[in-house]
Amino acid sequence: MKPYDLTEGKILKVYRENYNTVTVNVEVNLNNPKPGQFVMFYAIGRGEAPITIADYRDGFMVNTIRIVRDVTGYFDRVREGDVIHLRGPYGNLWPTNKAFGKDIIVVSGGLGLAATRWLLEEVIKQKHRFKNVISLYGAKSYDDILYREKIGEWEKEIDFRTILNIKNEMWKGKVGLITDLVKEIEIDKDSVVFMCGPDPMVNAVIEILKSKDIKKENIYVSLERHMKCAVGTCGHCMIGPYFVCKDGPVFNYKDIEYFYTKKGV
Ligand SMILES: Cc1cc2nc3c(=O)[nH]c(=O)nc-3n(C[C@H](O)[C@H](O)[C@H](O)COP(=O)(O)OP(=O)(O)OC[C@H]3O[C@@H](n4cnc5c(N)ncnc54)[C@H](O)[C@@H]3O)c2cc1C
Ligand code: FES
Repeated sequence: MKPYDLTEGKILKVYRENYNTVTVNVEVNLNNPKPGQFVMFYAIGRGEAPITIADYRDGFMVNTIRIVRDVTGYFDRVREGDVIHLRGPYGNLWPTNKAFGKDIIVVSGGLGLAATRWLLEEVIKQKHRFKNVISLYGAKSYDDILYREKIGEWEKEIDFRTILNIKNEMWKGKVGLITDLVKEIEIDKDSVVFMCGPDPMVNAVIEILKSKDIKKENIYVSLERHMKCAVGTCGHCMIGPYFVCKDGPVFNYKDIEYFYTKKGV
């Protein structure tokens, strides 16, 4: 198959997560995708958008899409039975093996939970390989919480903590910033951290991890950048010398720190 060839997928289920986000189950035959990777969704007359593979088993993929504008706008009206077009999988994987025998900490902010959902499922399956599994999730408001059923399951399996930025009478849990959760956990200095969320959140969390003596080379971040080709030819997604589409989206923080913290690089 050529890198730009489109594959057909059939929408089996549409679940409205909240006012601007939908989760779809797609029947599609992908070539051995792995947690961390993404596909390019194609909407006729609108263009393409990179979307994380939030899960994939036996020909069934899960994607969670926030309706922004052109391409993602298509998913506002998507119906069960619709046929869609996509290409991929692209990108690299969460290197879970780096955390074997150590504490693993998964930090997800907002829609970043889509990029860590499959990772969490795999980590839970292999729980015995890690010392402790901690997952920290920050959502803006009560309505923004994703995967409520899954979170219920994860809470039974691992130390899964959620915090909301905004108070709500329906919410009995913590209110504050995800950095509050990072501050409160007790972690080994050789813990391995996997993180996905908005850039300001990633920066703030990294400062706290540094103050807890977590090594930069033990921090992995999944990045979002504008993409066109997704195969390392157009240069749209570059951060310093790296292609987010091909070398990422998951990066070791030590490799990208210089470019990530410098504006316009
Ligand atoms: C590897 C990767 C995985 C992603 N996974 C998901 C996912 O699972 N679910 C999801 O909802 N979104 C995901 N995104 C973001 C998603 O691709 C963009 O929101 C989407 O391309 C917007 O397309 P659009 O055509 O609807 O809007 P456009 O018409 O392209 O853009 C609307 C506005 O959003 C801005 N914009 C577009 N893309 C981005 C971006 N990546 N970062 C910041 N601003 C942007 C544009 O500048 C414009 O102002 C991912 C992005 C990457 C790179
Ligand atoms: S999107 Fe074209 S090089 Fe990455």
